Amino acid sequence: MANQAGQSRTEGIEVDAENQTRAQQQVTSAPSTDNVPPRGGFIDLHCHVLWGLDDGPRSPEESLDLCRTLVSDGVAVVAATCHQRGVFTRNRPDTIRRRAHELAEQLSLHQIPLEIHPSAEWLLDAQTVEQLSHLVPELLTLADRQKFALVEFPFQFPTYLSYVAETLAEHGLVGVLAHVEKYHQLLTNPGRLETLLDDGFVTQMNADSIAGRHGQAVMHACRSLIQRGLIHLVASDAHSVDRRPPMWSAAWDNVLRWTDPETAELLFRTNPQSLIAGTPPHLAKRMSWLDRFRKR
Ligand SMILES: [Fe+2]
Repeated sequence: MANQAGQSRTEGIEVDAENQTRAQQQVTSAPSTDNVPPRGGFIDLHCHVLWGLDDGPRSPEESLDLCRTLVSDGVAVVAATCHQRGVFTRNRPDTIRRRAHELAEQLSLHQIPLEIHPSAEWLLDAQTVEQLSHLVPELLTLADRQKFALVEFPFQFPTYLSYVAETLAEHGLVGVLAHVEKYHQLLTNPGRLETLLDDGFVTQMNADSIAGRHGQAVMHACRSLIQRGLIHLVASDAHSVDRRPPMWSAAWDNVLRWTDPETAELLFRTNPQSLIAGTPPHLAKRMSWLDRFRKR
């Protein structure tokens, strides 16, 4: 029951099989230039790969299947993300660290070349925000590095973002807002996203939205936000091989087509690496209207 509740809350955007198939067809080829950086070496800082703790994999076998898919999709490092708060109040930092350690042992046993870091995604609903300062020590930071915190909000977008940013800063943390494109208010209003960046948030977009799994309208809005230089990093937010797959390669090809190799590199490798290292990420340059028009 808890799993179902979590899944319906975090989906946010409807997905259908037709869109998924169309997305897979849309992204089968990379742009044909000689300077295209190689696919691979991706760092996935948002991926529900641990079994039995949230609405991700239900067994070690499902976790391993997802890890194999990540590797074949070019991922080398993954932050094993686990929901905390909301309906997942029993997930404590040590629980997540232990399960990540167990998965790392399984990866070694099965010779799956994937580096894994325990991590979490905090649901900051009104009740949690009220107690946030008190709760922070019970919440696991991004890749367990005590520098960044992956956060999500109820989809009725809240008004307390500045307060959250200030409270996190008091604890030496910077908020990374998960899947910004799932909030209608941000997807359709770049100005609102700029305010959020001014508040000090780092912005993460999901690979499957970029790949078109949630439909053309969402994909085009994602393209616009990326081309305007409002997104710091891409991550999968994958939950399983079939229900919510990673789709890294598809997203990589689209971002290369929409922007340039430097921007793709920044969103898929450089900025995620910075967050793991505990250093600030950078935004890509904003493309001119003419360049955006040419790359529609
Ligand atoms: Fe997530």
